[in-house]
Amino acid sequence: MKLTFSEGSYLVTGGAVGIGAAAAEYLVTSGLNVVIADFDVENGTATAERLSSVGPGKAKFVRVDVSDEAAVEAAVAETVGAFGPLAGALNCAAYLPRNKRVHEITAEHWNKSHAVSLQGMFLCFKHQITAMQPQGSGSVVAISSTAAVAAVPGSSDYVAAKAGVNGLVRAAALDYAADGIRVNGIMPGAILTPGFKQSNAANPNLGGVADLLPIKRIGNPEEVAAGAVWLLSNESSYVTGAVLPIDGGLSAV
Ligand SMILES: NC(=O)c1ccc[n+]([C@@H]2O[C@H](COP(=O)([O-])OP(=O)(O)OC[C@H]3O[C@@H](n4cnc5c(N)ncnc54)[C@H](O)[C@@H]3O)[C@@H](O)[C@H]2O)c1
Repeated sequence: MKLTFSEGSYLVTGGAVGIGAAAAEYLVTSGLNVVIADFDVENGTATAERLSSVGPGKAKFVRVDVSDEAAVEAAVAETVGAFGPLAGALNCAAYLPRNKRVHEITAEHWNKSHAVSLQGMFLCFKHQITAMQPQGSGSVVAISSTAAVAAVPGSSDYVAAKAGVNGLVRAAALDYAADGIRVNGIMPGAILTPGFKQSNAANPNLGGVADLLPIKRIGNPEEVAAGAVWLLSNESSYVTGAVLPIDGGLSAV
């Protein structure tokens, strides 16, 4: 089966590297026009330039911090201005765990983590859905984590934020199910990305993680991106409010 997509623009927040960049590559090579929105200007620009040169779709980079509502709203407007009505959005940005136990986490750290991972997701949903309402169609996807349902030590801010993302996905799906706008999520397990390598270096609890996975290997970003792209495609038209694990069997344990 070949995936088909609605016409219009696609937005990938947190798409400079990792899972988001892999999904943007699928979309651009499928002929779609994609804005990559990220606060990493260097990698975001490089990824957009690389994808545009591969084509056949186009890619454009827009700088955004997802915790800044005005910037999120502007990024959505820029996407629509560049490539037309917003057909799909994939949201990947998160504040990575810092290997701190509850008593070591300051309120400032907690608030920053939630401002990016949970409130940032809400802000992206809010402005993406607002842009989709006039056409009465669209697909919004959140990258959550298996940490939402199976906690990881030293990560309470992240675990709580991702559990919140799962709830946000389900609630938003109900709000817009009758309006033609679908909202879904994905819970990756352990996926080899720059972010995973950074967390792994900071958190000895993640060492040897492959042995703990039923599938006995770490996943790659393309394996998660494939699920996200399917949720953005017309072939998932009857799916909304789902949070799909792509985790090598971790959440089945
Ligand atoms: N890699 C894994 O093992 C794994 C597992 C479970 C969930 N996830 C989730 O997948 C998503 C993508 O993770 P990844 O592993 O590809 O991470 P990554 O760190 O490799 O990529 C995340 C991207 O988000 C961007 N970003 C971070 N904060 C931002 C902000 N405030 N505003 C805009 N952009 C911001 C980063 O610059 C980066 O480009 C995250 O939500 C993460 O929690 C990853």
